[in-house]
Amino acid sequence: MPGWDEYRYQKIRQDHLQQVVALHEQCLPGYYLTQLGSSFLGAMYAWYLESPEAIAHVAVAEDGCLVGFVAGTINDATYRESLFRKTWSPMLLALGRRLVSKPALTLRLVAERKDLAWQAVSTILGRGPGEEPEAKPGSDGEPSTASLVSMGVKPSARRSGVGTSLSELFVAEARKRGCERVTLSVRADNVRARRFYESIHWEEVTRSSKTYHGSVSITYQKDLSDEQKSETASMREEFLPPLAPCLGDEEYNEVLDTLKSGWITMGPKTRRFEELFAEYVRSSHAIAVSSCTAGLHLALVAGEIGPGDEVITSPLTFCSTANVVVHRGATPILADVRPDTFNISPDEITKKITPRTKAVIPVHLAGQPCEMDEISAIAEEHGLLVIEDAAHATGAKYKDRIVGTISDVTVFSFYATKNLTTGEGGMITTEDAELAEKMRILRLHGISSDAWKRYSDRGSWYYEVLFPGYKYNMTDIQASLGIHQLAKQEKFLEDKQRYAKMYTDAFRDLPEIAPPAVKNHVRHAWHLYIIRLDLEHLTTNRSQFIEALRKENIGTSVHFIPLHLHPYYKKRFGFSKGDFPVAEAIYDGIVSLPLYPRMSERDVEDVIRAVRKVVADSRR
Ligand SMILES: Cc1ncc(COP(=O)(O)O)c(C=O)c1O
Repeated sequence: MPGWDEYRYQKIRQDHLQQVVALHEQCLPGYYLTQLGSSFLGAMYAWYLESPEAIAHVAVAEDGCLVGFVAGTINDATYRESLFRKTWSPMLLALGRRLVSKPALTLRLVAERKDLAWQAVSTILGRGPGEEPEAKPGSDGEPSTASLVSMGVKPSARRSGVGTSLSELFVAEARKRGCERVTLSVRADNVRARRFYESIHWEEVTRSSKTYHGSVSITYQKDLSDEQKSETASMREEFLPPLAPCLGDEEYNEVLDTLKSGWITMGPKTRRFEELFAEYVRSSHAIAVSSCTAGLHLALVAGEIGPGDEVITSPLTFCSTANVVVHRGATPILADVRPDTFNISPDEITKKITPRTKAVIPVHLAGQPCEMDEISAIAEEHGLLVIEDAAHATGAKYKDRIVGTISDVTVFSFYATKNLTTGEGGMITTEDAELAEKMRILRLHGISSDAWKRYSDRGSWYYEVLFPGYKYNMTDIQASLGIHQLAKQEKFLEDKQRYAKMYTDAFRDLPEIAPPAVKNHVRHAWHLYIIRLDLEHLTTNRSQFIEALRKENIGTSVHFIPLHLHPYYKKRFGFSKGDFPVAEAIYDGIVSLPLYPRMSERDVEDVIRAVRKVVADSRR
């Protein structure tokens, strides 16, 4: 008699594959789902090794079983070896992360192989071997699965248990795909599972004449069309904010180290952060400042922009882009945006140039770079300084060049919710040594020598005031965050790219929603995911749409109220409604959906479900 593991694995493998294929055919064009357990996933993995396409279909539906899969799979010597060589397929890693992101997570580890299973689980969680949490006695009576291990993650507030979170996941996925029903199969002798599905009103539709794993299979179905109509309660338990920072132990420890070091203002860590940032964007100079706003202001001061001068920028931006122009006594001139990317239109810039124009501030809205070739050509022709407002664009690329060296000056924001955060902060990059030196001095009172140069063992007490400068420096506490946030940028971007793709794919069939238009020649930094509502096809306006999403516990925001519609700008510069029709039309329909690396794929799915529900409820 073979051991349990071998038996399950080898015997079930072929049966399950047939089951998958049969059920798939049976349930199409609806959505096929099944919950067959760990050995099923082990079998699927085996199948995957020979046929990469095959697993992709199952990936979404089955992820709740992944840890079970690990338990099942590692008992096979070949797969165990490949697992521990960390030859994880990207798909399996994605599955692992999705599972970990669930609000309720219970791991089932095969008793005899608990140590190995835990090692594999730790690998998925990215924690290294780690310590195994205390096991709770198993309750489902399955003979060889002796331990249920709680990960200490908050239990689902709605209903408890893996079955619940799986079924919720199934339903969410099916809704996302616009399916009318969800079907799943359980073994007839799995009384616990059957009771569960019956308790949540799944209907028993077929009892398979074929057996699998020695038991009759029962298929349950949930009719989503009825349920969707009757559902009124919000789909999420907790509010999902539109933006949030993603900080980890590396940042906490570095801040602590700084606090303990005794040097907490601008010093060696700020210098280090500047060097690392310059390396990241491949710029010759990087100057850390207290905010992007401060950086934009310094760039204008160093560029000697002042009273009588005009600076062209976008109406679809945050107020600080233009406020700093006003602080210089210069005049902000707005040029309308492109209807596709929402970024400033080079043609509109050209129309706004006068003999007084001295600078252009293109704003890379949401993290998508502006048409910099065209803008640079216009600037060169008219002798204009170009200062990129890259507040959203850390990590963005324009034609394979990372944003930071394209124009005279580039300014980044490290505000709490930006791609890279230092709480508050910013960075100026430039290739111009003279401008760099001037901005470096201006950021700290305009004095010739910063405190680190004066008070450290290498320093001298003497300094001179060269300009009436500002107090715009970064501190080493902020830089402590920045150093580690920078190291995580590419990973953050990878996560956001994946989430953005999930949104875009999920909304493809909704004519009421236009996802962001991303140009082929850019790498979008995905600070924001801005959808545009087609209000003609909806019975709600944008504010009602946002309110409906808030009732679903999904937070959103609007980027931005066009500058020329703010009272100060109207009054001071005589702007009025109708001046920038493209920006205004865009503004009426835009909503920024949650997008940040701290979100889980489950969160993204919640947003998708909520958006689809709100659209369905307000479709004209
Ligand atoms: C486009 C744009 N520019 C500038 C800023 C100002 O950044 P900071 O808060 O770092 O001064 C922001 C902030 O949100 C922004 O969105």
